[in-house]
Amino acid sequence: MSESAEPWDLAGEYRRELATASHVLDMGTGGGEFLLTLTGDLPADTVATEGWPPNVEVARRALAPHGIEVVEYGAPDEDVDALPMPFSDGRFDLVLNRHESFSPTELARVIAPGGRFVTQQVGGDEAHELAYWLGEHHEMPHVNPARFRSDLEESGFMVLDAAEHVGAYTFRDVAALLAYLRLVPWETPDDFTVDRYADRLLALHHQTEGGPIRLTRKRFWLRAQRR
Ligand SMILES: C[S@@+](CC[C@H](N)C(=O)[O-])C[C@H]1O[C@@H](n2cnc3c(N)ncnc32)[C@H](O)[C@@H]1O
Repeated sequence: MSESAEPWDLAGEYRRELATASHVLDMGTGGGEFLLTLTGDLPADTVATEGWPPNVEVARRALAPHGIEVVEYGAPDEDVDALPMPFSDGRFDLVLNRHESFSPTELARVIAPGGRFVTQQVGGDEAHELAYWLGEHHEMPHVNPARFRSDLEESGFMVLDAAEHVGAYTFRDVAALLAYLRLVPWETPDDFTVDRYADRLLALHHQTEGGPIRLTRKRFWLRAQRR
């Protein structure tokens, strides 16, 4: 599989903000992999959240040696306001968020006036071709730059930068697509197995003559400042 790259440099944008930040949060740090690439630029007061239980311990093991505490928290996808963020008002002057859901109102509470929020998101309707090929595809149409911008503005932020990139994932063949889908179970129907979907997968194989398969890839990013 190969994928087109977005034209902005998120790590560079993070570094630019980190240069003047003292109290930093990385939301949904995963196993801390991306944050670890920035350790030389992080202030002493850096914390992370992680909400997917299998990753909480992974992140703690990875980040503890760097003095970064991992707090268990994730904004539920279906209702991002359902859980308050476990931080006091105005706790941070910079919040980073790569591919993680968030509550704009909770963010406005925990970011001090003048503080910044930088996020990159996966467009909620990317890979929509899977709906046609597999008969079903879970989409989150509200995850789009216009909606995120207006939600942030309504919650007390000014949006300083925003851009979207529509590109492609290209899979060498159906087998490569299946290898990928095993790693991203949220992209397939709940009952997905290769055997159960063999007819559809064979039809896709024949339609593409055993050659490459293209899925739409979407990313967008925003930089916002708390008023
Ligand atoms: C895509 S990750 C982003 C991690 C990190 N910010 C980064 O950019 O590398 C967003 C969230 O999804 C979680 N996650 C990863 N695999 C998952 C899975 N199979 N099911 C549910 N959540 C998952 C991660 O632990 C993390 O909390």
